[in-house]
Amino acid sequence: MNSLNKNDMANSINRRNWIKSSALMAGGLAFFSGTIEKLAAMPVIRKTARTARITEQSVLQGAPDVLKARLFANENPFGPSATAKKAIQDSIDHSYQYPMRQIATLSGKIAEYEGIDPKNVLIDSGSSPLLLAAAMHFSKGGKSIITGDPSYEDLPTHAELFEGKWIKVPVTADYKLDLDAMEAKIDSNTGLVYICNPNNPTGTVLDTQKLKDFCERVSKKVTVFIDEAYIDYLPDPQGTTLISAVKANQNVIVARTFSKLYGFAGLRCGYIVAQPDTITTLSIYTVGAFNITAPTIAAAIAGYRETDYLQDAFKKTMASKEFLYATLTKEGYTYIPSSTNFVMFPLKMDGLKFVQEMMKRGVGLRNWKLAGQDWCRISIGRMDEMEAFADAFKEIS
Ligand SMILES: Cc1ncc(COP(=O)(O)O)c(C=O)c1O
Repeated sequence: MNSLNKNDMANSINRRNWIKSSALMAGGLAFFSGTIEKLAAMPVIRKTARTARITEQSVLQGAPDVLKARLFANENPFGPSATAKKAIQDSIDHSYQYPMRQIATLSGKIAEYEGIDPKNVLIDSGSSPLLLAAAMHFSKGGKSIITGDPSYEDLPTHAELFEGKWIKVPVTADYKLDLDAMEAKIDSNTGLVYICNPNNPTGTVLDTQKLKDFCERVSKKVTVFIDEAYIDYLPDPQGTTLISAVKANQNVIVARTFSKLYGFAGLRCGYIVAQPDTITTLSIYTVGAFNITAPTIAAAIAGYRETDYLQDAFKKTMASKEFLYATLTKEGYTYIPSSTNFVMFPLKMDGLKFVQEMMKRGVGLRNWKLAGQDWCRISIGRMDEMEAFADAFKEIS
């Protein structure tokens, strides 16, 4: 609160009263009281524009009604699985009930698979609310968040909207997170080190042993947050995950999502794995069980570790990625070899102009500026989507 001015303080108080009075009107005070107290305890968001999102929206607004290829959000068009879809249908009759029991079931399944305790797991509607919780908590008092640059910006952007400072550390010459340089930035004001592995948007993955050593060393000084949204696209997720660091009682948080290989981006389910006291602390900033729908949780329980589906979606993604690599090479372009379901490649024209021209042709993509160079990030879609990209790309490349 120390950086708030008088208006912010007044807004804060009004907002807290509003939250409390709205809940009273809804008649659910006893049931929701814990959550209301939690919400009222939240710091106030600074009114800062989120420019990256605004740019994205301006491109999306020019989109044709029907896209031939939706390749801007790293979704997985091969999901959700038939089993998950059936579970959604079967859950509808019971969806007048709050799904607390089912959330406990999913935590139990995750804990059993990972060899941890359910107390190490916090589930929410995607990993985004948990990234937000971490942003709020670890930026308190003006603390800084150290991230790679470029990397996934959601957590540090939110941290800045609260009280936090964002320290960006450029990636190495081979577009990997620079762990040594990130470690060198740690000081007494560091609140969190955020590592996205594999990294979005570069698609690169860190050497597992190097990251494990980093976590063991650094987590003694500061909390390390490992965002493993894309880990299911690696050949050996179990050998790569830093859940091993949580098991070794290190001060490490691992975020996972069903939005990628499971194909649940629109269903919304994700979780973090961390020390029980960290789970308790971060859950203060979430509405947890009241944030997840019964059909989603039913689908997640039914589809969790569904090997046949996961392998099939993985193989189809790899085939589409190989087709993309061949297309780019044929057109005289290079790319960063990717460990994920998206690929970054350098452009030969203005990035915004490129995505606008591709959008006019029914192909949705995203552009980046990295060290003065324009880049495109393309998500891996179905083969027909990659062919639509290839056809449009030939016209303007
Ligand atoms: C690295 C990374 N983390 C987290 C998320 C958020 O995913 P969700 O909220 O759908 O779980 C994304 C989404 O694209 C992402 O790329």
